[in-house]
Amino acid sequence: TAVSLIGAPTDIGAGSRGASMGPEALRVAGLAEALRALGLDVADRGNLHGPPNPWQPAHGGYRHLDEVVAWNRAVHAAVQAELALGRLPILLGGDHSLAIGSIGAVARHCRQQGRRLRVLWLDAHADFNTSAITPSGNLHGMPVAVLCGFGPPPLVHLGGDGPALQPAQVRQIGIRSVDAGEKRFVHAQRLEVYDMRYIDEMGMRATMEQALAGLDEHTHLHVSFDVDFLDPEIAPGVGTTVPGGPTYREAQLCMEMIADTGRLASLDIVELNPALDERNRTARVAVELVESLFGKSTLMREHQARRRG
Ligand code: ARG
Ligand code: MN
Ligand code: MN
Ligand code: MN
Repeated sequence: TAVSLIGAPTDIGAGSRGASMGPEALRVAGLAEALRALGLDVADRGNLHGPPNPWQPAHGGYRHLDEVVAWNRAVHAAVQAELALGRLPILLGGDHSLAIGSIGAVARHCRQQGRRLRVLWLDAHADFNTSAITPSGNLHGMPVAVLCGFGPPPLVHLGGDGPALQPAQVRQIGIRSVDAGEKRFVHAQRLEVYDMRYIDEMGMRATMEQALAGLDEHTHLHVSFDVDFLDPEIAPGVGTTVPGGPTYREAQLCMEMIADTGRLASLDIVELNPALDERNRTARVAVELVESLFGKSTLMREHQARRRG
């Protein structure tokens, strides 16, 4: 597999500053080297450029809408270019508003190629707010709604006409913080949410079996990995920590089961905030999990192969 790293150094949609340093922290933690060690062809495309963060209050329910549009246009073009080359794009955020451009490009590509799309949204948050219900105006709390057609026209129509996604294409995993109005909207739109209560009761294995059910050889699997998915005990370096997330082992199993499908075709790694981290440990944990996402295993597979053989 050929993968391309695309840095998008901005915190334009976030409620705290610092996710703009995420791409470099992932590089310093050895992301490219780790993927090369797995035998992948890795190209680091460097960083995209966009407007600085003006740190303004919300206008009309959105903070920094024009700047978020500018950043997402750049992300959309870069992700689309890598998909056209037949490479697997890895977006290094940056905050989660950038998933609008990333998944927008993926959705358009799938439509052109006649492929089915499944999005796994690994997050503490549903990111399903709109300008009418957001408590903050921060666009990183809105990308799933925007991708499903609920948001400002310049973002909803970033990748052409019509919404990028249908709610039925999305599976959310690890959710444990949803705002009051957002909760009603999640139910109204029938988003498939595997929240922490579900993972507690069913376990990560059964959860992932369900979230990954129905994939076939024509399915493009996109993973949008918000680092705040992880429990803050193992991942303190994010702007919006929520206690009670997956442990290191649960997160590893989640990634390994995605890898086992063989369908992963694009990835976002977002919301890493080095300004809030401890000696880059959250970036290192993210790299270890991404290694598993790309198929790193210890003994299990070889062991099973030997027993079968
Ligand atoms: N629900 C809150 C909001 O809309 C927090 C969103 C956090 N999103 C994220 N991608 N970290 O403001
Ligand atoms: Mn403004
Ligand atoms: Mn989140
Ligand atoms: Mn998020």
